[in-house]
Amino acid sequence: MRAADIANDLTTVLATEEEILAKLNEIAAQVAKDYEPDSLVLVGVLKGAVMVMADFSRALPMLVPMDWMAVSSYGAGTRSSGVVQIRKDLDTDIHDKHVLIVEDIIDSGLTLSWLLENFAARGAASVEVFALFRKPEAAKVEVHCRYVGFDIPNEFVVGYGLDYAERYRNLRDVAVLAPHVYS
Ligand code: XMP
Ligand code: MG
Repeated sequence: MRAADIANDLTTVLATEEEILAKLNEIAAQVAKDYEPDSLVLVGVLKGAVMVMADFSRALPMLVPMDWMAVSSYGAGTRSSGVVQIRKDLDTDIHDKHVLIVEDIIDSGLTLSWLLENFAARGAASVEVFALFRKPEAAKVEVHCRYVGFDIPNEFVVGYGLDYAERYRNLRDVAVLAPHVYS
């Protein structure tokens, strides 16, 4: 897809790459204050959180192990079904570990509330959440999110890891997807 066609699929830019990186640095500094070195495990939720994890983990002034989980509650559409399926489980045991879940976006909150319960059941010492984006108006369940990058309107967004039907993930900025693309 060419640049001109990509631009036609997007409306408002909600966060530029520069703004995202500045925010990640801010949150990384806070996380470094909140956790003892060597106590923390980052768990990224595939695939959307890949970019967040790459930049956030490198903004942390300490070494940190990373693990990954792939879950799906969406299929190819734009609405959460609430039915969460594990597509790839963690490779490591998080028993007694302090886990920070790294998420691209909280929409309904259904995926995260399921993950939080699942991780608690594995005996994690603590489980907290960092979500780069959150849509407060879309919440169906309350999820305690300790670190939030940006609160955004209830619209479908793409870029910086976020996709629509696997497209737009590698865009540097995050923008609202034009409704003509999915309607
Ligand atoms: P829930 O509704 O369970 O959704 O909080 C969480 C997951 O759904 C995906 N999601 C989006 N993906 N643009 C996207 O590209 C969006 O606006 C959007 N809203 C939700 C995402 O994978 C998230 O982890
Ligand atoms: Mg996701």
